[in-house]
Amino acid sequence: MFEKEVYTNRRNRLRALMKSGIGLFIGNVESPVNYPDNTYHFRQDSDFLYFFGIDLPGLAGVIDFDSGDEVVFGTDFDVDDIVWMGPQPSVADLAAMSGVRDTLPMAKLVDHIQKAIAGGREVHLLPPYRAETRMTLGTIFRENPCQMTSRASEMLIRAVVSMRSLKEEVEIAEIEKAADIACEMQTTAMRMCKPGVTEQEIFGVIEGIAWAKGAGPSFPTILSINGQTLHNHKHNNVLREGRMMVTDCGAESNMHYAADLTRTTPVGGHFSQRQREIYEIVLKANTESIKKAGPGISNRDLHLNACTIIAAGLRDLGLMKGDIDTAVAEGAHALFMPHGLGHMMGLDVHDMEGLGENFVGYNEEVRRSTQFGLKSLRFALPYKPGHVFTVEPGIYFIPELYAKWRSEGKHKQFIDYDRVSTYLDFGGIRVEDDVLITDGGCRMLGKTAPKTVKEIEETCR
Ligand code: GLY
Ligand code: MN
Ligand code: MN
Repeated sequence: MFEKEVYTNRRNRLRALMKSGIGLFIGNVESPVNYPDNTYHFRQDSDFLYFFGIDLPGLAGVIDFDSGDEVVFGTDFDVDDIVWMGPQPSVADLAAMSGVRDTLPMAKLVDHIQKAIAGGREVHLLPPYRAETRMTLGTIFRENPCQMTSRASEMLIRAVVSMRSLKEEVEIAEIEKAADIACEMQTTAMRMCKPGVTEQEIFGVIEGIAWAKGAGPSFPTILSINGQTLHNHKHNNVLREGRMMVTDCGAESNMHYAADLTRTTPVGGHFSQRQREIYEIVLKANTESIKKAGPGISNRDLHLNACTIIAAGLRDLGLMKGDIDTAVAEGAHALFMPHGLGHMMGLDVHDMEGLGENFVGYNEEVRRSTQFGLKSLRFALPYKPGHVFTVEPGIYFIPELYAKWRSEGKHKQFIDYDRVSTYLDFGGIRVEDDVLITDGGCRMLGKTAPKTVKEIEETCR
């Protein structure tokens, strides 16, 4: 945990934003895999971690925004539990580490909240994303658990988003630790990227690094020679010459701050002419975006700028044609880059996605586009110092998308479909780094994994 002042300051700031009512933060519980005692690896709820910091299951935190009273609810373990689990800190000890004086048994939570409701108090909660939390909330509110998401407080969501979006120094230090681990995962994957090696083997080794150096992967590793599938979680191929391996992976620091890096390595460690040509375009979109990122530009504008670099590069190779600005405005480049340039990152790798992406990355003035490609941009607002972002352009040749667009004649004035048809065995390329927005621009977080053609080829050698 951080020093307790970090958590008391955060709760005080939240109280100043909320002013009135009660905030209810339900921590996560153990969740079974295939029978009750065989549980998934425990991951605390990120908002509970942010405000209370206690990384254990079965807790809830309540903040009275009027009086300032704070209570951690939890159940102390008895000797029967300790026989199996070893000595455990008391709920009171844990709460004290978070700067909270008062604790109550978990069994009192329903009564506590019911009393507040009966007294006319407004209870604010964040949208639940786990069935167990919905069940707990359903019991507390005596309502259908399935409806609990709509009970979420927009005011609380907005307050939490405003706080979590701007990273504190202690958080940035944690993200850097995570990024250093991710860098080691990437260099290890590159060195293993040889014909005959299985994806599964590399996947296992690099997720092992995430566990050995931090709190495990920050999301399920994407590692495949079928990099054209954006979130490819299958690892059942044998690497073969002529393909490129996309490795999109990250670790959590022990305090659960995330990193998220992508590198693309030619199997065997040497780029062919065709691979290098496409790679250089993606690399340029990545490095130019990092040069431009900073206060005064929005993630939407940076995304469109990266798409223009990609479209111009593809035009130079004869894969796109016509006026590039018009092509990008109309979304023709999305055949090759159908995702957003990047997302916020923090305690969640897609930071605060659970609170509702449109609360994080959009507002009254900046609405989400409905255009294929641009609609997948998770964050469109201007950058502010303290934001942490990924920058992750890519070029993909997705045969199914190609076939659909070609049959529809979609954007045919901007796409040379005959020429693209010769790339359908190419796969995909993505290059992703993590940056902190500063007063004057941005800076890369953690060690930079090999990224240029030369650096990657040298690392593979
Ligand atoms: N790791 C998935 C992504 O890059 O957003
Ligand atoms: Mn990623
Ligand atoms: Mn990412």
